[in-house]
Amino acid sequence: MKKKTVLDILDMMKKGEKITMLTAYDFVMASILDEAGTDMLLVGDTMGMVVLGNPNTLAVTLEDSIRHTQAVARGVKQAMVIGDLPFGTFQVSAEEAVRNSIKLVQIGNAEAIKLEGGSERSAAIKGILDAGIPVMGHLGLTPQSFHKFGGFKVQGKTKEAAQFLLEEAKQLEESGIFSLVLEAIPWQVAKEITEALSVPTIGIGAGPHCDGQVLVTYDMLGYFDFKAKFVKRYLDLKGQILKAVQEYNREVRENIFPDLSYSYD
Ligand code: KIV
Repeated sequence: MKKKTVLDILDMMKKGEKITMLTAYDFVMASILDEAGTDMLLVGDTMGMVVLGNPNTLAVTLEDSIRHTQAVARGVKQAMVIGDLPFGTFQVSAEEAVRNSIKLVQIGNAEAIKLEGGSERSAAIKGILDAGIPVMGHLGLTPQSFHKFGGFKVQGKTKEAAQFLLEEAKQLEESGIFSLVLEAIPWQVAKEITEALSVPTIGIGAGPHCDGQVLVTYDMLGYFDFKAKFVKRYLDLKGQILKAVQEYNREVRENIFPDLSYSYD
């Protein structure tokens, strides 16, 4: 099976084919999402919330990101694997951003990296590209700026804020990103940005006009209790797990499981 690359992702946009991305943090889930034909798997720093149980993404470390990217990369045959640069690994200097991106690719087996922010990241993005690593941008509700925003809040709601996002998106494109995540912004703003850029936009809570969509896999499978307005649940995984585990607990307690068919003679 042919592995997808940045060229395939750009080609899909040019042909008007929608791009799918989901988050993945472990080998088994990555192999399932890959088998289902998902175009890109993002080893997002949302792992800090849905895997590690933190209230936000800020505590995720580069080592966390590397370890989980390795696991995801091992499970993938065709999807492109994007590693996420965690909070504190790219803000201090462009040099640090380049060094940490190289680690995500060299040790984590990422095929591209994602970082949050706008024009203030231009030097870092150019440096990472110079190292031969494709970069995915991320604008709108960038969760690493949780404290600055005063919580997880929809961005770009005023005319000025929308204009600012459009300018920032253009700057990121000029810096060389191969695609741009737009998170929690009005669909009209996402549409305008998508029309203005020649690289694909990947929306999450940004409406239907983006070139592709991403969701946190645990949210769309109903594995995680939190549900934002933009999340469509395709499965009640938590409900199904609860039912299965309650049945297992009952069968063990009533000495139904294991019977001899599950036992060695
Ligand atoms: O970390 C993450 O999972 C993300 C997605 C929500 C886009 O940034």
